[in-house]
Amino acid sequence: MPSTRLILFILCALVLWWLRSPPTPLPRQTAPITRRIVAVADLHGDYAHALAVLKMAGVIDAAQPSSSPRWLDTSGQTVLVSTGDLVDRGDDTQALYRLFDTLRSQAPTPQHVRSCLGNHELMNALGDWRYVTKGDVDSFPGGVEGRRHAMSTQGWIGQTWLANSSLTHTVDLLPRDEIRQAQELQGLSTSYLVPQANFVHGGIHPSFAAAGLAKLNSIAHSLLHRALTYAAINGEMFPPATPEEERQLYSEMGPLWYRGYAIDANEKHICDLAVDARRKLVEDAGSSSVDYLVMGHTPHLEGFIHRCDPPSVHLIDTGISRAYGGAQSALVFETSLSQESGVWTEERRLIALYRGRKPKVIYERKRAV
Ligand SMILES: *[C@@H]1O[C@H](CO)[C@@H](O)[C@H](O)[C@H]1NC(C)=O
Repeated sequence: MPSTRLILFILCALVLWWLRSPPTPLPRQTAPITRRIVAVADLHGDYAHALAVLKMAGVIDAAQPSSSPRWLDTSGQTVLVSTGDLVDRGDDTQALYRLFDTLRSQAPTPQHVRSCLGNHELMNALGDWRYVTKGDVDSFPGGVEGRRHAMSTQGWIGQTWLANSSLTHTVDLLPRDEIRQAQELQGLSTSYLVPQANFVHGGIHPSFAAAGLAKLNSIAHSLLHRALTYAAINGEMFPPATPEEERQLYSEMGPLWYRGYAIDANEKHICDLAVDARRKLVEDAGSSSVDYLVMGHTPHLEGFIHRCDPPSVHLIDTGISRAYGGAQSALVFETSLSQESGVWTEERRLIALYRGRKPKVIYERKRAV
């Protein structure tokens, strides 16, 4: 006859077996990995239009009075990129640089707000003030001298240029850490390349792309620092002892001024150049791929110009500023990666936003990866 103890033991074992946590299978579906990149070009001294565009794109709170813009997205999915030229042609230089610094401090990390330098930032730093308005000069305490000081290594605009902007930014279209995690733990192929877009003011010709992103940014930073230190000496374009590589960077073929992607009508030639530049701009071949080149600088007032097939070259200066009166626009990259029953699917959408018009899908692609 089995003892009471044995019966108790068997009962306990049964209860424990029944209570045991079920084995955790890989979830059939994981939360999608997503990112939304909003790019704006050539704001040229027009704070009101800048606010209108950022509200339209859902970057700042539309309900806020215009005096206190507020970064909206707390999820970390949104990244804002400016392709430069906040200054000149309009009066609102200070308000615009303050706006970008404010958004940078409100966003989840400073990396969520990327500022490129334009040729006009460098012109002002170098003392070439041909496009500065009287209203803008008057907006600075101390007028010309006050403005010159603000745009020096000692001044707040010069300092935020040096600390918070770069010649060019390459931005991941999806958060890289989440991709890595999906590759390590959730069966996403290790050969999946993080898609990227490169942003610059003018355009990066392959002869410049060959230097690589980090080198281009460091040459620009050095030229900017030199310009802010020695602006407007003897009316020369460059401060004394400016090295050749910095002069070249600021040349007509350089990334701040180049217009080839915007004005060369030979589509084949431009798309070949773009493929070459994109390949040279990749910093870590084997883990990412620069699929898009985005630039401002050459206004097309009606709307963006998208070139090549699939569209990989995007010219997004639409003359947002009152000085031009063009379309008030933002280009949006929406990308997501989701998993269902072990199959990973990537979706990309490129959307053109124009104030007062319906959003326009420029490109859409869905594929298993
Ligand atoms: C850079 O931007 C931050 C906002 O994130 C701002 O607080 C800071 O003052 C800027 N840096 C400089 C040197 O101006």
